[in-house]
Amino acid sequence: MPKQTIIDAHALEKTFITGEVKTHALRGVTFKINKGEFVAIMGPSGSGKSTLMQLLGFLDRPTSGKYFFEGQDASVFEDDDLAQIRNKKIGFVFQTFNLLPRTTVFENVEVPLLYDSNRKSKKRNRHLIERALKQVNMMYRIDYSSNQLSGGERQRVAIARALVNEPKVIFADEPTGNLDSKSGVQVMKILQQLNKEGKTVILVTHETRTAKHARRIIRLVDGKITSDAKVNHQLDANGIEELK
Ligand SMILES: Nc1ncnc2c1ncn2[C@@H]1O[C@H](COP(=O)(O)OP(=O)(O)OP(=O)(O)O)[C@@H](O)[C@H]1O
Ligand SMILES: [Mg+2]
Repeated sequence: MPKQTIIDAHALEKTFITGEVKTHALRGVTFKINKGEFVAIMGPSGSGKSTLMQLLGFLDRPTSGKYFFEGQDASVFEDDDLAQIRNKKIGFVFQTFNLLPRTTVFENVEVPLLYDSNRKSKKRNRHLIERALKQVNMMYRIDYSSNQLSGGERQRVAIARALVNEPKVIFADEPTGNLDSKSGVQVMKILQQLNKEGKTVILVTHETRTAKHARRIIRLVDGKITSDAKVNHQLDANGIEELK
């Protein structure tokens, strides 16, 4: 079967203007990601990784360049359409979890369902929430408040929330950044499992050992791609093969 492109970024630029200061966060970034890939985006602090994720996840728009998602030109969508596409097709996981405080695990995972334009029945919602919590092994805390959870548990709930609408793509921006190494490995295993089940996973990380869970590494420096390499798991820990 031919590989299907899900993400097609062409010459993306993003310039932030704050008062008199212009910051060129992205300076012409071009790449494609196929459905089912697991890609890590690496690069120094300030190189534009989060900015790129925001553009790809429709949280922001580029200053120039084109972005096609599933073959559709994102620039033609109104903000409301983008919000719906984001809610249905994209799951976000952040370094800081971003759960609602003093709110139960169940209610946190329910949030994307409440924003869905095609609301489902309460029973259907419960089924979807429980299924997502099972995928991250968090059913045993369904009625806990988010404040009562450990960091690793919070991140797993955040992943369940990202999954509940069955998105095609998961964007994870430093998902292990605030976790101890054991919880970090658990989170990476979940992302790997989701990828095996067919989801496209795009991960930002500065840790080489975390990036090695991916099959391809895109490096950004100063808003530009400096390398795009596939990870060869057959080789040893340093086995990163440059793509031509
Ligand atoms: N909303 C904004 N307004 C102004 N400047 C911004 C904004 N967001 C990002 N920037 C600037 O754009 C550049 C890229 O930021 P970005 O957050 O994408 O970096 P990053 O690679 O994710 O870094 P880190 O590893 O520290 O998270 C930085 O110089 C940052 O200060
Ligand atoms: Mg960042």
